[in-house]
Amino acid sequence: MLWLTPTFILLPLCAHAITPLPIKLLFQTADGSALENLAVRSSSELLITSTASPTLLTFDPAAKNPTFTDVVTFPNANGLLGIGEIRPDVFAVVASEINVTSLSTAPGSVFIWTVDFTVGAAPKATRAASIPKAGLANGLSAVPGNPDVVLVADSTLGLTWEANVRTGAVRVFLQDEAMTPIGTSGPAPALGINGLHVRDGELFFTNTQRRTFSRVAPSGGAVQQLGTGEFDDFTLDEEGRAWLATSLPTSPGGLTLIDPLTNEERIVVNTTLNAPSSAAFGRVGALETETLFITTKAGQLVSVDTSAEGV
Ligand SMILES: *[C@@H]1O[C@H](CO)[C@@H](O)[C@H](O)[C@H]1NC(C)=O
Ligand SMILES: *[C@@H]1O[C@H](CO)[C@@H](O)[C@H](O)[C@H]1NC(C)=O
Repeated sequence: MLWLTPTFILLPLCAHAITPLPIKLLFQTADGSALENLAVRSSSELLITSTASPTLLTFDPAAKNPTFTDVVTFPNANGLLGIGEIRPDVFAVVASEINVTSLSTAPGSVFIWTVDFTVGAAPKATRAASIPKAGLANGLSAVPGNPDVVLVADSTLGLTWEANVRTGAVRVFLQDEAMTPIGTSGPAPALGINGLHVRDGELFFTNTQRRTFSRVAPSGGAVQQLGTGEFDDFTLDEEGRAWLATSLPTSPGGLTLIDPLTNEERIVVNTTLNAPSSAAFGRVGALETETLFITTKAGQLVSVDTSAEGV
């Protein structure tokens, strides 16, 4: 997710207290412009967003010399944030006029678009909903079992929006102190809820400024904190464990693994990720499903081989 401009470079692996998982740099944007979020198509191609561009990008990790290719450019926007698959090969994405200095989106500029890859050679982009009162619309989650709606994290208002991509209806879905930033007096960036994902009827989310990873049953009930760290977006594996893009105090960044069943939390990639923003597993074949793709705010696409993690 979105925050301060990183100045780090990708560091080589060096001796750590942990045995770090192997990582590989797949692509680096020419100008270092920030990569924000990603989703994986069933074809195994990645869809990638950048806060610095209104163009959705694709990258095929199976190609010989893979590079970033434009998919679609959204009008009246300067950047893209969360992305998620709502139906097979149909994705929803947040587009807006972002001010990365004030960490806000221009009033009335936040739209949820759907991008449908099932309709032919060229995907069809549709403006599906608008969130006129958004502060900073950030992460996006599909809702398994309900392809009509997406949940969108609002990092500065500290709440979750629900947007219906069929009717365009938008409402506040959930508001909780665990989603708010600590306050304007706190250390920058004042980002509350950042990444969010629905799994098995529960909403998992990070709060960057509060340094928390939590879950809540959307039907009500208390928020349960599962982990601590300066987290951005994350993904859940088949076992329900969370892999979180993490800002580390002593390094450019890493990856934290949290098991919500046991609350066990450990850093599995230490120091070698350059301001990671989001993570998503590959989808095709045994090898790829153990490959975690990571975007970074320094414009890198990195793969992590998680097979050594006893998956
Ligand atoms: C990560 O690396 C930092 C800096 O080298 C080190 O201080 C820290 O102990 C390491 N953490 C783990 C969990 O290995
Ligand atoms: C972005 O926000 C900063 C800080 O509030 C402000 O000075 C600047 O004018 C804004 N930029 C635009 C393009 O609105």
